[in-house]
Amino acid sequence: MHEKTRRAVLGTGIAAAGSGLLAACGSPGPHPRATGHNGMESNTMGAPARAGAPAEDDPPDYVSPHGPEVAATEQRRGPGPVRTFRLTATATTLDIGARKVASWAYEDQVPGQEIRVTAGDTIALTLANNLPQPTTLHWHGIRLRNDMDGVPGVTQRPVRTGATFDYRFTAYYPGTYWVHPHSGVQLDRGLYAPLIVEDPKEPLKYDKEWVVVLDDWLDGVGGRTPDTELERLGGHAGDVTYPYYLVNGRSPESPQVFRAKRGDRIRIRLINAGGDTAFRVALGGHRMTVTHTDGYPVVPAKTDALLLGMGERYDVLVTVKDGVFPLAVLAEGKGRSAMAVLRTRGKSPVKFPRPKELDGELLTADRLKAAEDVRLTPKEPDRIIRMRLTGSMRRWNWAINGRPYDPTQRYPVRAGERVRITFVNGTDMWHPMHLHGHTFGLPDGGPRKDTTILRPHHKVNVDLDADNPGLWMVHCHNVYHSESGMMTILGYQK
Ligand code: C2O
Ligand code: CU
Repeated sequence: MHEKTRRAVLGTGIAAAGSGLLAACGSPGPHPRATGHNGMESNTMGAPARAGAPAEDDPPDYVSPHGPEVAATEQRRGPGPVRTFRLTATATTLDIGARKVASWAYEDQVPGQEIRVTAGDTIALTLANNLPQPTTLHWHGIRLRNDMDGVPGVTQRPVRTGATFDYRFTAYYPGTYWVHPHSGVQLDRGLYAPLIVEDPKEPLKYDKEWVVVLDDWLDGVGGRTPDTELERLGGHAGDVTYPYYLVNGRSPESPQVFRAKRGDRIRIRLINAGGDTAFRVALGGHRMTVTHTDGYPVVPAKTDALLLGMGERYDVLVTVKDGVFPLAVLAEGKGRSAMAVLRTRGKSPVKFPRPKELDGELLTADRLKAAEDVRLTPKEPDRIIRMRLTGSMRRWNWAINGRPYDPTQRYPVRAGERVRITFVNGTDMWHPMHLHGHTFGLPDGGPRKDTTILRPHHKVNVDLDADNPGLWMVHCHNVYHSESGMMTILGYQK
C-alpha cells in the first residue's frame, strides 16, 4: 500500500525499473557531465568581494541588480527597525547524534541559529567566510531586493575566504523561509538555517512554535563530501545515497525532544533543507492542519501526512494529545527514515517510530487553495515562458530547454506583466523547481509558492506578477541537478 501511494505521488518511471522510485536507473553512463557546473564562479573567483559591485558586465538591455529600478522597488518597501545579525561560515566538527562529522556550518551548529524578525524589519546581516571556498548567502523564498539575493556571478561577487559581506534589505512579507549558500554544492553540507518572518498581525492562535528542519547527510562520512559526490555523479551518474537523515541536526538514534502540555496548540514550521531527498512527514497519533506553504497562507486543510520537496516549507497546526509521539520523517523512495519526538510527560521511548499516519492521507500542494487575501487575481498571462526540463540520470546532463546553465542567458520579462511559466518535465525524475524573488500561484487559485514539485513527464503552469525587477534564478532545488546545469535566469528587460 505504501509503495502504491508513493508511486501515485511522484510518478512511476523509476520505480518501474525496480530499484525504488528515486533510485538510479541502473547502468552507469559513459558520459561525463557537462563541464558548465562550476562556470558560475570560475570567472569571478579571486575577484575582490566589494559590496554592491556589479558581478558581471550586465547586458545593457536588462535591469541590473545594482540598478535604480531595484533601489526604487526597495524604497517602496520602506526601511524598518534594523535587526543586526552575524553569521560565520566555518569548517567545524558537528555532533549529528549517531556520530561526529567534520563539515562546514554556520557557527558550529546544524541547523544554524534561527534568524527571526518581524515583517517590515530591515535585516542587516554580516556573513563572514572562514571556509576554504568562496561562498554567498541566499534567502530562500524571500521577495527581497535583487542585489541582496546572494547569487555569485549574477547578483554579487562571491565572498572570498577570509572576507565578509554585508546583506541589508527589508523583509517585507511574513512566513517560513531559510538561508543557504548559492555556491556550488555547499548547501549539502551543514550550511543552512531557518529564517522566520513573524506577522505583526498574526491571525493564527497557538501556544508554542516548533521549527523543524529536515536534511539528508553525507558530508564527512567515509571520506565523502558534496564536492566528491558531484564528481562521482559526473563520471558514473546514478543516485545520491545518504548514510544519515536528520531532523534538526539529529539522527534518529538521538532525536530532538520537543516538550509540550496536553491540549497545547503547536505551530510546526517544516523546512526541507535536503540536497537530494523528498521527505514525507507525519506526527504519530495526530492529524495536522496545514495553514501555509512556502510562507503563504492557504485555506486550512487537514491531513495525516505531507510531502516536501527540497526547498519547500509547510506550516501546520496540531493540538497535542497526552503521551509520547514521533514526528516521523521518511526519505521518500529511499526506504530510510528520521525522527523527532513530541512528548507531554515521562521519559519512555517512542513505541511506534513508524506511525500509521505516514501511510495515511497524503496532502500535496496541488490540492491546496491559496487563502483568499493572497490568491492571484485571475488574469490572462501577458507572456508565457516554456521551460522544458531535460536530461537523464544516465547521462547526468540536466538542463532547461536543452541548455545547461549559462550566466549570460536570460528569459526576458517586463515589469508589470502577468507571466506564466509552463514547466514541462521531460525527464524520468522528479524536480522541485524554484524561482527566486517572487511567489507564483499554482493553477485555479492554488497556493502561492516559490518551489513546486514536477513529477516525471508532468506539466505545471505557474503564474506570477513581475513586480520585483532584477535577475532571478529559476532552478531545480536538487543541488546536484542545479549545479550540473538545471538552472537559468529570468531577467527584467528595461
Ligand atoms: Cu534555495 Cu536558488 O535556492
Ligand atoms: Cu532536478
